[in-house]
Amino acid sequence: HGDGLLRIAVIGTGYVGLVSGACFSEFGFSVTCVDNDQAKIDLIQNGTMPIYEPGLEDLVARNVAASRLHFTTDLGTAVADADAVFIAVGTPTRRGDGHADLSFVYAVAREIAPHLDGYTVVVTKSTVPVGTGREVYDIVAQTNPQADFDVASNPEFLREGAAISDFMRPDRVVVGTMSERARTVIRALYRPLYLIETPIIFTELETSELIKYASNAFLAVKISYINQMADLCEAVGANVHDVAKGMGLDKRIGNKFLHPGPGYGGSCFPKDTLALVKTAEQYNIDIGIVDEVVSYNDKRKNAMAGRVKAALDGVVAGKVIAVLGLAFKPETDDMRDSPSVDIIRELVDAGAQIKTYDPKAMDEARHMLPDSVSYCASAGACINDADAVVIVTEWNEFRALTAAQFIAAMRGHVLVDLRNIYDGAQMRDAGLSYSSIGR
Ligand code: UGA
Repeated sequence: HGDGLLRIAVIGTGYVGLVSGACFSEFGFSVTCVDNDQAKIDLIQNGTMPIYEPGLEDLVARNVAASRLHFTTDLGTAVADADAVFIAVGTPTRRGDGHADLSFVYAVAREIAPHLDGYTVVVTKSTVPVGTGREVYDIVAQTNPQADFDVASNPEFLREGAAISDFMRPDRVVVGTMSERARTVIRALYRPLYLIETPIIFTELETSELIKYASNAFLAVKISYINQMADLCEAVGANVHDVAKGMGLDKRIGNKFLHPGPGYGGSCFPKDTLALVKTAEQYNIDIGIVDEVVSYNDKRKNAMAGRVKAALDGVVAGKVIAVLGLAFKPETDDMRDSPSVDIIRELVDAGAQIKTYDPKAMDEARHMLPDSVSYCASAGACINDADAVVIVTEWNEFRALTAAQFIAAMRGHVLVDLRNIYDGAQMRDAGLSYSSIGR
């Protein structure tokens, strides 16, 4: 390009594509985000984000206004103009066998191939199993033998709810490439991070693809480990937070991701752990640790309804149970694999009447929860006249609720805190029957 400015096309305006595209434009590059869903593109162009992510709406508005960020359904033009094309479409779990479904990624590879114009780096940003990058390379090369391109793998490590700061201030950037030429392009794209001395690790394609899965699975193991320790703490009368603190001060262990809860959910850990197990199976490698964590976490999410039942002395039918928090974690409207779904279904099956409140996820939840569930306008309205309250997601606004408020509003006095956001002694002193995790 005459102006020397690097141009980026991002295919897929889901969570990863939208956040990455907006952040690259904030770095100053010219970014075009492409999606085949015209309605979604229209929505974003009108300033409405299809997902809730703190700071995203402003970031998009600012860069659209500065003409650095564009949205279109015209894949051909965006790809022809681009120096780097990021593939950021979904890789859901394939129905039936647990493998990652790569049909969207491969479809994009076929679709972009004829439009590549001049040297282009095709980058997989979606979480893709080992070997996918080579496959994308073959598809593009076969579809367009004239194309001058390389494939790179650049997994994202964004957490929902903190995605923008995770992109802008990452612990590391991981890039798998096939050539020095591709490395040069990617290095230029992440140059703004050199100022804050972000380590950028260049590896082979396969290694980069595996780093992503190995990292997510390790975090899933860590969470499951502290969840099992929490159960043990309850049995022996220990406090899991002190155990986590005592462990976490050892630098080899670290203090992050040692918060016990109802089991991990979301769009990443459940899907990625399962896909990693499938990859290992395919190569006949024993990764039993991850396998065990997958089934343990499922069991744990189911077991949480049992805790609520036990807190109600086994009498659930006809009881009004208020569920505070539905999203799989705070600051998101994402309901995918959220523990709230399993908990609520089981309590409804047992005859409970469920009222819920979540600051962001209620629209999503309506598609996923039984019809009999009712949705409240506030936490206060939700706990009103309830026999029991269950904290499923640790939204900050729930932390401020006091024992006096619970006592005044509720019909019964059972409080089940699956995120340990309250001081147990305070709640019990006020007369609530309070239970939490691992303490
Ligand atoms: C996760 C990773 O943290 C990101 O690095 C990664 O990029 C992302 O997956 C992905 O693969 O795209 P995310 O799923 O957004 O990010 O959320 P986390 O903050 O990691 O939480 C995942 C789940 O673990 C939540 O259900 C959360 O409640 C649970 N969790 C987390 C715990 O129960 N305890 C903890 O100590 C931490």
